Amino acid sequence: MGTFVVTGSASGIGAASAARLRESGHRVIGVDLRDADVIADLGREEGRRRAVTEILAACGGVLDGVAAVAGVGPDTRDAAAVVSIDYFAPVALLDALRPALASSGAGRALVISSNAATTVPLIDDTLMDLLLAGSEDAARKHAEEAQGALPTALLETSPGISAYATSKLALARWVRRTAVTPAWARRGILLNAVAPGAVLTPLMTGSTGATADSDPDAFPTPMPLGVFGRPEDIAFWVEQFLRPEARFATGAVLFVDGGTDAVMRPDAQPTAMHL
Ligand code: NAI
Repeated sequence: MGTFVVTGSASGIGAASAARLRESGHRVIGVDLRDADVIADLGREEGRRRAVTEILAACGGVLDGVAAVAGVGPDTRDAAAVVSIDYFAPVALLDALRPALASSGAGRALVISSNAATTVPLIDDTLMDLLLAGSEDAARKHAEEAQGALPTALLETSPGISAYATSKLALARWVRRTAVTPAWARRGILLNAVAPGAVLTPLMTGSTGATADSDPDAFPTPMPLGVFGRPEDIAFWVEQFLRPEARFATGAVLFVDGGTDAVMRPDAQPTAMHL
């Protein structure tokens, strides 16, 4: 049985993913702000460093997989925290744990993006460039400044929405760019992303007000299946990507969103290459 790291293991999708892996007999090192094997604030450099040290001590330098699930939602007022937690934390953690994943011979890495990346028309191109360039201080500063330009109504309900959607799109792009580099692909480490839609967790309820009693057809984005996701619906795919048998998929971004992205942008992917 394998040894896996799951961040955000105290709640929602992370908790369901950790539970599923444990039920399959694996050892899970959970990382979160509370109620976890490793308690660390992944939004801060010091927290990330300590988390990596404690994870490596716990696993003896060999990991079968890492699911970077921890995140905050679009209702987060601190836009700088959004980019640090939702983009820089998973990237830094996976970069730091890459040697441990390589040591297992069949390392698996997964991040959680979001269909907000493709369905929220508030992508900040400058922020995108700063994220992909790895400039955390500049990205934090820009995210804070750009927040002021959001319409007042949005600022009241979803002050972090632009930073959130941009961070989640950048994370998906980082996965596609990074997964194919020799440092990952030729060391046998597969790197993929799952992009969930509306999943009933504290993050979703906090960001949208939707609960298990809400009507999916009254949700702001269309829900073709007519149901909200449950954390277990995402945990299923998390586990599939982390399995050793999943040996030919890398750089994938899988929408698990009840059809929202497909109905809003049916022809956006795949796109053809033209000469
Ligand atoms: P949740 O709020 O239930 O769980 C998030 C977990 O991350 C919490 O346990 C929290 O303590 C932890 N966390 C937050 N900031 C942290 C930090 N600085 N350091 C360490 N841990 C931290 O939320 P949910 O919904 O399970 O979210 C998991 C991931 O799924 C997030 O990345 C979120 O953006 C993403 N997602 C969720 C969707 C949804 O509808 N629930 C939709 C699309 C993406």
